[in-house]
Amino acid sequence: MIRTMEPATPESGLSDFELVAEIYRLKRERNAVILAHYYQQPEIQELADFVGDSLALAKAADKTGAETILFCGVHFMAETAKILNPGRKVLLPDLNAGCSLADSAPPAKFRAFLDAHPGHVVVSYINCSAEVKAMSDIICTSSNAVRVVQSIPAERKVIFAPDKHLGAYVQRVTGRELVLWDGVCEVHVDISLDKLKFLLGKYPDAKLVAHPECPPHILAEADHVGSTSSLLEFVQKDPGTTFIVATEGGILHKMRAAVPGKTLIPAPANSENSCACAECPYMKLNTLEKVYAALLNGQPEIVLEESVRAGAERSLRRMMELG
Ligand code: 13P
Ligand code: SF4
Repeated sequence: MIRTMEPATPESGLSDFELVAEIYRLKRERNAVILAHYYQQPEIQELADFVGDSLALAKAADKTGAETILFCGVHFMAETAKILNPGRKVLLPDLNAGCSLADSAPPAKFRAFLDAHPGHVVVSYINCSAEVKAMSDIICTSSNAVRVVQSIPAERKVIFAPDKHLGAYVQRVTGRELVLWDGVCEVHVDISLDKLKFLLGKYPDAKLVAHPECPPHILAEADHVGSTSSLLEFVQKDPGTTFIVATEGGILHKMRAAVPGKTLIPAPANSENSCACAECPYMKLNTLEKVYAALLNGQPEIVLEESVRAGAERSLRRMMELG
């Protein structure tokens, strides 16, 4: 086999089987760990050392002893791994794997928003850039957003950014008034209420599980609202046998493996796509070819300015200290 240190090319000429074998070999050679989000392609989830939600992945990145972290997810997730691991190499197979929520909060606009709301505690969802994390007091994920907000003294005013739907959900659960940044996840807002209602009519015994990035009209129909890990846990523990799953379709891979006897139906999106479900185009940019090329070439690498990294680490560590 010819090995090259040339920049990654999209085509290695290897079959999927050979690619997986090469990825394992390079992983050992580079002392690398592969972390993957539940929204990754099934073949990437299968070869990862650890698959989880945003919180679990941040914790896994914090604990690793590997020299290289190959992060199969989107940019803010790989950045989080780098924030927690300044001395390790963090690779993201495709640097274009962004996020509509992170993109909704450019640092200069966010700074102006904070200046217009002095005296607020700033809670930012982990789906934001390192610069925004550095301007925040504490970070949260969809697993712990309620707990993070509840940890702030009741008399303090709070900004919640950048997901207005997660923020509104936290508001409803905690009864706290939050100043919300106007950002959305383009994938979760694309879930179709009409198609969902049709499915609920067709499967009257089905339970709806939904991610809190969904808009309120979807969450109002849900039997359970939670992070991807929480949805996975619910379908395992609940005695129900049919579930409609309102989040990105990638989670169905682990869910089907966890409850092979249950019927799992992805909530349909308004837009047409390959899976007839809600599909994150950024998550799907990572492929076996790109994972292989990243390990082979040691790039694309996440690089952060130290002052930004250190500021972002402060707000992230506050979240992690909450347990
Ligand atoms: P969780 O991983 O916290 O469930 O969030 C989902 C998500 O949208 C990640 O981008
Ligand atoms: Fe961002 Fe939504 Fe994709 Fe998650 S699913 S990475 S929030 S665009």
